[in-house]
Amino acid sequence: MPSLPDLAGRSVAVSGVGSAFGVAIADAFHAQGAHVYGCDLDPSGFEALVASGIRCSSVDLRDRAAAAGWIEAVVGEGRGIDILVNNAGGVSGQDAQPFETLSDADWDLVVDINLNAAMALSRAATRHMAAAGSGAIVNICSGASLRASLTGIQAYCAAKHALLGLTRQLAHELGPQGIRVNAIAPGLVLTGKATRRQWDAYGPERQADILGGVAMRRLGSAEDIARAALFLASDWAGFVTGQILSVDGGIR
Ligand SMILES: NC(=O)c1ccc[n+]([C@@H]2O[C@H](COP(=O)([O-])OP(=O)(O)OC[C@H]3O[C@@H](n4cnc5c(N)ncnc54)[C@H](O)[C@@H]3O)[C@@H](O)[C@H]2O)c1
Repeated sequence: MPSLPDLAGRSVAVSGVGSAFGVAIADAFHAQGAHVYGCDLDPSGFEALVASGIRCSSVDLRDRAAAAGWIEAVVGEGRGIDILVNNAGGVSGQDAQPFETLSDADWDLVVDINLNAAMALSRAATRHMAAAGSGAIVNICSGASLRASLTGIQAYCAAKHALLGLTRQLAHELGPQGIRVNAIAPGLVLTGKATRRQWDAYGPERQADILGGVAMRRLGSAEDIARAALFLASDWAGFVTGQILSVDGGIR
């Protein structure tokens, strides 16, 4: 039985480390003794990680060459890449809007960061993982990978569903090369302005209704998500691939 969760010394790349989940995930791997590398579009969110010794880079993941270049830079540090957590995503400040008037630009932005970025990073990382004969990818999906999204944002729901599809497909393609690919479906976690605005907009009645549908009767935390990422990336999940783990307190 490997020690829990046997991540010391592993090389871990986490995207979106300017966000609450990204920070918590990077911190959690760092605390396990892993070598953690993070990236985000916005460097202001990862200052605390840098101060704690985690190497972070400013990367626009809409640029696929830049995304692949960041993975090469991680590998260039000399420890390869054992684990990739595709966490960057979100709604980029968008609100729900009628489908008929949705702009191409708004659609493309959300699909690019939630789906295409994960594709570009995974493609670059799996070349190295395959050569090493092992690796783990954890995709931060959403409840919106499994059902309509509480955000009401069509592109978000479509992209998160597609990210789950990519998870399942890559698990089958890459399993023979020792690479596991799994996903997490977080429930609503109040991580920043967008989720707080979304939550406030529901009003007390709908909020109570949503919480009443959660078995644990609370919203989640970034740490809840980080612990699930540790598990799926670790050897304790060594026979788990192509799965989505809902970390949502048990939604009815
Ligand atoms: N908070 C929730 O309730 C919730 C629920 C389900 C899923 N998620 C998912 O969890 C992940 C993290 O969410 P969060 O709530 O911590 O914060 P978030 O949604 O704000 O995180 C998005 C992060 O991605 C980064 N990003 C956006 N565009 C980028 C680009 N072009 N290049 C590089 N980085 C870019 C942002 O700067 C930000 O740090 C996202 O994928 C989100 O969709 C969140």
